[in-house]
Amino acid sequence: MEIVDLDKWDYVSNRVKHILKFEFDNYSEKFIKRRFEVRLRILGIKSYMEYLDYINNNPDEASKLLKEMTIHVTNFYRDSTVFDLLRKELLPRLINQAYLEARPIKIWSAGCSTGEETITVAILLDQACRNYGRWIRHTILGTDRDKQSVISAISKRFFPEQFKEMPKELIDKYFDQHDDYYEFKGIRNENIRFEVGDILSAKTPNNLDLILCRNTVIYFDNSAKSKLYEKFFEILKHNGFLILGKTESLIGPARDKFESYNLHEKVFHKN
Ligand SMILES: C[S@@+](CC[C@H](N)C(=O)[O-])C[C@H]1O[C@@H](n2cnc3c(N)ncnc32)[C@H](O)[C@@H]1O
Repeated sequence: MEIVDLDKWDYVSNRVKHILKFEFDNYSEKFIKRRFEVRLRILGIKSYMEYLDYINNNPDEASKLLKEMTIHVTNFYRDSTVFDLLRKELLPRLINQAYLEARPIKIWSAGCSTGEETITVAILLDQACRNYGRWIRHTILGTDRDKQSVISAISKRFFPEQFKEMPKELIDKYFDQHDDYYEFKGIRNENIRFEVGDILSAKTPNNLDLILCRNTVIYFDNSAKSKLYEKFFEILKHNGFLILGKTESLIGPARDKFESYNLHEKVFHKN
């Protein structure tokens, strides 16, 4: 699609930022423009100025654009091999450490979308505790900047297609199956919370054993990523782990601070 007033981009994007109350400065311009273009195409609008006019006069459009900017694709056990590693190696280590130090395990799923990643970790923690033969207290926090996704996560109801990578025995054990959805039954002494929050600006949890930040920062610019990874290093406990998405890499000073635990699975260790 040819946009007729490319030179108006800065003006329009600043106005839209104000309307959306979303500081997308940390996202790459190319990505943001592409998201705008999707909306322009759907609406048959050919210029940014005309779109600004439209968004000013149609209150629903702001949430549609915002949704377009935050892509929520996720599923249980997504990229299964990293969850196998979590189950076999990382969680047993973290459980043992927490047990010896007589304290709970703290986990943060940053950019949790509709909750599948967070609940996968909770299930694997439950499994790992059973294998360990002791129950360890836990706090598992899932956060996302998209309110609708968080509301959906809190409902703990999921569509069948979200389970394609999840081992069947785990589905049978942890979910009640209804006609067209599955409902999470929970785990022992469950302490899972979902909250709305922007990982770049909201208050972060601290003293964490494990952070999963997968497929969430791909559209951030390098400076935002670099600051975020340094923040992750600070808020992890000694011996804690950071897991990134399959296509992501550590950048900035955090690269030298973290030890690469398993580069293929994008697992980093605070040693
Ligand atoms: C593709 S989903 C990833 C979900 C899950 N981590 C996974 O890998 O399956 C990316 C999520 O990141 C969220 N997100 C994007 N930017 C964010 C930000 N600045 N703060 C919090 N969440 C953000 C989006 O709303 C979206 O739900």
